[in-house]
Amino acid sequence: MSVIVPLNMMSRNAIEQLLDAAFGPDRHGRTAYLIRDGMPWLPELSFGMRDGEGRLIGSLQSWPVALAHEDGSRTPLIMVGPVAVDPAVQGAGHGRALMDAVVAAARARRSDPLMMIGDPEYYGRFWGFSAEGTGGWDCPGPFEPRRLLALSVDGRPIGGTGMLGPRATVRA
Ligand SMILES: CC(C)(COP(=O)(O)OP(=O)(O)OC[C@H]1O[C@@H](n2cnc3c(N)ncnc32)[C@H](O)[C@@H]1OP(=O)(O)O)[C@@H](O)C(=O)NCCC(=O)NCCS
Repeated sequence: MSVIVPLNMMSRNAIEQLLDAAFGPDRHGRTAYLIRDGMPWLPELSFGMRDGEGRLIGSLQSWPVALAHEDGSRTPLIMVGPVAVDPAVQGAGHGRALMDAVVAAARARRSDPLMMIGDPEYYGRFWGFSAEGTGGWDCPGPFEPRRLLALSVDGRPIGGTGMLGPRATVRA
């Protein structure tokens, strides 16, 4: 049976191998990596899925980022992803379980809004992530506006204009 564990319980090596298997080794140049460049992941909002033999078969990381506005102010956000499931066991509910865990933990903490670059067909359908409030957001690399998604976990409105990037001060 598989279980969800804090990601910090798993080895960095196992996490890197899983991400390479799910996304390919050229993943580091992606825009999502630039948005959270240099930030450590947030331990309380990052999870691993471990199978019955202790292997890491799924991982989800969350990062402190911010939307920088023209007037110099910044809106803190939490970037979710990558969400990765071992290709050998995809489609068995592990991705949903990991996402359920992060959304529940964020709601319980009344955290800053969640954001991600991902497929609205998946993240909208199950958790309500939407590109509706992100039309004024820019990224430090190429992105498809329909895939720039956000979810408020405490009723805070999503919107504004600005550039996404790493947050200087780490706080969930
Ligand atoms: C995307 C991913 C995390 C989903 O996890 P998973 O464990 O395979 O999927 P689940 O079993 O939780 O969910 C299955 C359901 O979601 C749907 N689904 C999965 N990925 C989807 C996608 N990208 N777009 C739309 N629907 C998707 C499936 O069709 C299935 O629907 P059904 O229940 O109606 O049959 C996983 O497939 C993966 O790691 N893919 C490669 C890396 C990636 O693209 N990550 C996401 C970007 S951050």
